[in-house]
Amino acid sequence: MSKLYTADDVCIHNKRSDIWVVIHNKVYDITKFLEEHPGGEDVLLENAGLDATMNFDDIGHSDDARTLLKNFYIGDLSGAPPTKSTESHTLKQDNNPSMAQGVAVFAVALVGFAAYMYFN
Ligand code: HEM
Repeated sequence: MSKLYTADDVCIHNKRSDIWVVIHNKVYDITKFLEEHPGGEDVLLENAGLDATMNFDDIGHSDDARTLLKNFYIGDLSGAPPTKSTESHTLKQDNNPSMAQGVAVFAVALVGFAAYMYFN
């Protein structure tokens, strides 16, 4: 069985040194192909970590190009395709307030409450 990847798995591979794209619900690691792409690397970088299906089809890639894809196939997409908002959603998860921050907020609230009680 082929390996399954979610949108979250795909969207973190969004840089020149590590680039995946989704085309027709299949996941491709095109890191090694970047410099060889006849259409240039910029268009690939714009689709890094995203669903490139529409862009890929719109260009009208040849059958050769479609055959080439097989070399980069690493698995199938499970669930909804990655979008720009999956990217920011994943980044937000990385920036989640830590436990320490939560405790600090609680402590400040507690001191505030104590002061309020003291002065009343
Ligand atoms: C990721 C897998 C991709 C593969 C394997 C691939 C492969 C190829 C190949 C072999 C060509 C030469 C023409 C042809 O045979 O059709 C080509 C051209 C081109 N590709 Fe891709 N491509 C990929 C993705 C993309 C994406 C996502 C875009 C656009 C966002 C794109 C934009 C272009 C453009 C604009 C050309 C035309 C270059 C020209 O004729 O001057 N490609 N691609």
